[in-house]
Amino acid sequence: MSKPDVLAVAKLHPLYQKALEAVYTVHDRTHLTDPAAFAALAPRILGVAGTGEASVPGSLLSQLPNAKVVSVFGVGYDGVDVPAAIEHGIPVTHTPDVLTDDVADLAMGLVLSVGRTIPQADQFVRTGQWPHGPMPLARKVSGARMGIVGLGRIGKAIARRASGFGMSIAYTARTEKTDTGFAFYPTADQLAANVDFLVVITPGGAGTKHLINAEVLKALGPRGFLINVARGSVVDEQALIDALQNGTIAGAGLDVFANEPNVPEALWRMNHVVLTPHMASATTETRQAMADLAFANMQAGISGQALRTPVPECMAMSQK
Ligand code: NAP
Ligand code: 8YV
Repeated sequence: MSKPDVLAVAKLHPLYQKALEAVYTVHDRTHLTDPAAFAALAPRILGVAGTGEASVPGSLLSQLPNAKVVSVFGVGYDGVDVPAAIEHGIPVTHTPDVLTDDVADLAMGLVLSVGRTIPQADQFVRTGQWPHGPMPLARKVSGARMGIVGLGRIGKAIARRASGFGMSIAYTARTEKTDTGFAFYPTADQLAANVDFLVVITPGGAGTKHLINAEVLKALGPRGFLINVARGSVVDEQALIDALQNGTIAGAGLDVFANEPNVPEALWRMNHVVLTPHMASATTETRQAMADLAFANMQAGISGQALRTPVPECMAMSQK
């Protein structure tokens, strides 16, 4: 008997792909590579597998009359047209919590890297510059002021780590939290004006597009550092390049970019910027946990069982 069919809308992580292939026939982006074949296949598709960055537009969902779930390998799901999914009765799931520690760890790694110039120091030693003089002094991280844009699961985990470094914590979010004791600022520019390290960890999508713009960077100021582990869309990338080139801010640590995997060459050339390839959750342990959870959601959706981790908008949905 042939296996049930699912559609992968992006190149899947091998652990997720392998788990799916044990039970399903996985059609890898057929909607993009062979639309004619996809038209015949579409009614057989029972589930859609994606990544945090994958695009799942309403126009695709409307072609899938028998799809029972969209299972995203990632906590962010800004590429999924969730209102359309709800309209078509297809719940969306994601992988929250299992990656929180890793993303918070990388955020702190970027704070330390830009503040203490660790990558530059590594280059300094490797390129034989040490015998010719000391490195320029770095920026003290312990005791500095951290501002967090988005105090959700990961934002709170970053705050816990920063507190361990004796940093003061302030934040902005859509709503003020009454249980943290951290200073709340209603806007990103007010927060930026009062911190040394501004860490961005909101969802992507229309609601946060260019939340970090030229005004926010000006408020952060020439001794301030920007860290972005959220989505490239949250930061106006050209405004950031301008601010780095003009000395409007001191530096940046970036894990996410506007047009991944393409990173503007202007950023490659800057010595006061640390760049990582969207790898905040990329540890063996966490990728396995994400694959397990994404697979469990796919199986639950297709078999009509309770979903493990539906996105908040789909919690109240009844399944097809
Ligand atoms: P979460 O628990 O839902 O937290 C999101 C936070 O962002 C909440 O505090 C929310 O405010 C805030 N927020 C939403 N819209 C906002 C806006 N317009 N202005 C200010 N704050 C806003 O999500 P999470 O689990 O922490 O994950 C956050 C995001 O991190 C994901 O959606 C994803 O984009 C990104 N991420 C990146 C990587 C990576 O590899 N770099 C890995 C994992 C996640 P309220 O609390 O007021 O609702
Ligand atoms: C992943 C992410 O790198 O969870 C997210 O939102 O951005 C990351 O954990 C991504 O989803 C895997 O492609």
